[in-house]
Amino acid sequence: MNITKTIKSKPWLGWVLFLVTVFLVFLLGLLASSIVERRAEAVFVSTPKVKIGDYEPRNQIWGQNYPVEYQSYLRTADTTFRSKYNGNGTIDMLAGDPRMVILWAGYAFSKEYKQGRGHFYAIKDVRETLRTGAPKNAHDGPQPATCWTCKSPDVPRLMSRMGPAEFYKGKWAARGPEIVNHIGCADCHDPKTMNLRISRPALAEAFTRMGKDITQASHQEMRSLVCAQCHVEYYFKGEGKYLTFPWDKGLTADSIEKYYDQTGFSDWTHQLSKTPMLKAQHPDYEVFTTGIHSQRGVSCADCHMPYMSEGGQKFTDHRIQSPVNIPNINIAGIFHRSDGINASTSFFIIMMSLELLSIIQKKNLLHVNTVNYFPVTGIHALLNIPR
Ligand code: HEC
Ligand code: HEC
Ligand code: HEC
Repeated sequence: MNITKTIKSKPWLGWVLFLVTVFLVFLLGLLASSIVERRAEAVFVSTPKVKIGDYEPRNQIWGQNYPVEYQSYLRTADTTFRSKYNGNGTIDMLAGDPRMVILWAGYAFSKEYKQGRGHFYAIKDVRETLRTGAPKNAHDGPQPATCWTCKSPDVPRLMSRMGPAEFYKGKWAARGPEIVNHIGCADCHDPKTMNLRISRPALAEAFTRMGKDITQASHQEMRSLVCAQCHVEYYFKGEGKYLTFPWDKGLTADSIEKYYDQTGFSDWTHQLSKTPMLKAQHPDYEVFTTGIHSQRGVSCADCHMPYMSEGGQKFTDHRIQSPVNIPNINIAGIFHRSDGINASTSFFIIMMSLELLSIIQKKNLLHVNTVNYFPVTGIHALLNIPR
C-alpha cells in the first residue's frame, strides 16, 4: 500500500503530515536564525572597539572591548557575602582577637588588621589602613613605595618607565598621585593577544633563582601564576626595599624559614620580648602548591574563576571571590561544596606556629589564607600553641 492510497482513504492523515512538515520547517528556521544571530554576536564581541596600549591601566578602557569580563570584574565590589571564616566584606581581626595587638607589638599590624575584600577595593583599602599612616608629603610616612606593588595596574606601567628597583625606592606616598586604578586587566593580560602574562618582576626573579624559567610555564600553570604575583609570602630586601619572594630553598614553610634564618632576616623585633619575628603575609600560592589540588593539576582560576555562559557567550567569570558564593559552581571532583565550608576545603587560621603550618602542608590540605606564623619561642607561651 503506497502513501497516496493511504491518504486517499484517510484524508486527515494528509493534514497531519502537512502540519508536522510546517512545524519542522519552522523549527529549522528558528535554529538557522539563532545561529546567524550568535555569529553576529560573536563578531560583535570579538571586534575590538578601542586599541589598548601595552600598559593601559584603566580597566574601563579594556572593558569596551571585553564587556562581559569587565562587568563580572566590577562585581568584586560586592561586600554582602559572609562565609564561616571570611566572606567578601572586611572583618576587623584585632577586634576579633585583641591579643594580636600584643603579639604584634612594634609591628604595623598591631595598628590595624582587616581581613581583605574584593580586588575592586585594593587602592581604597591600602590608602585607608592605619598601617600606611597619614603621610604629610612625598617623603613622609611609615611604608616604602614597594607597598603599592600588589594593588594596581599602574604599577607595571610605572615600572616599565622607571624600572623596578627605582619604583620600590622611596616612600609609599611618593607614588600615590600616579597609582589610582585598582587591580585589573593589565595585571594579568597582554593586551595584544589577551594571553595571561606575568607583570610583576618579583615572581619571575624568584623563578630564575630557583633555576626555572617562568616563560616556559604551561597554560594551566599560568592560571595560578597570575595570582602568585600577589598572593604569596614576600619581604622587602635591603635598603632599596626590593620586593623579594623567599623561595630560593623551596616553597614549604620549613624551606622559607631556613631561607630567612640563613639571610638573617626578620620582619620586626617584638617590642616587649625584644625577639626578632617573622609573620607570613598571605602565602596562598605556597600552601596551595604543596597541597593535593595543585598536585592534581587544579589551578586557582578553576575554583575562583569558573567558566560562565551568558547570551550564548562562554566566558571566564572575573568576579574573583570566595567559591562558596559562586552559584551552581560545577567542578565536581575538584571542589567539594558544602553548606558551610568544610575543613578539608578551606582553612582560615589567624595565628599559627610554623610547625603547625608545616603539618598542614604535609597533610596536603588545600591552602591556608592569611597564615601568620611565629617561629620564635617565647611568644608561643602567649599563644598556647602546641610545639
Ligand atoms: C596585583 C595583585 C593581585 C593579583 C594579580 C591577584 N590578587 Fe587577589 N587580591 C589582591 C589584594 C591586594 C586583595 C585584597 C584587596 C582588599 O582587601 O582591598 C585580593 C583579594 C582577593 C580575594 C578576596 C576577595 C573577597 O571577596 O574577599 C580573592 C578570593 C582573591 N584575591 C583571589 C585571587 C585570584 C584567584 C587571583 C588570580 C586569578 C588573584 N587574586 C590575583 C591582590 C591580587
Ligand atoms: C587576576 C588575573 C586577571 C585579571 C585581573 C583579569 N583577568 Fe581576564 N582572565 C584571567 C584568567 C585566569 C583567564 C582565563 C584564561 C585562560 O584560561 O586562557 C582570563 C580570561 C580572559 C579573557 C578570555 C575570554 C574568557 O572570558 O575566557 C578575556 C577577554 C579577559 N580575561 C578579559 C579581562 C578584562 C577585560 C579584565 C579587566 C577588567 C581582566 N580580564 C582581568 C585572569 C585575569
Ligand atoms: C579547590 C578549589 C580552590 C583552589 C584551587 C583555590 N582556592 Fe582559594 N579558596 C577556595 C575556598 C573554598 C575558599 C574559602 C572561601 C570561604 O571560606 O568563604 C578559598 C579562599 C580563598 C581566599 C580568601 C577569600 C575570602 O573570602 O577572603 C583567597 C585570597 C584565595 N582563596 C586565593 C586563592 C589562590 C591565590 C589560589 C591559587 C594559588 C587559590 N585560592 C586556589 C577554593 C580554592
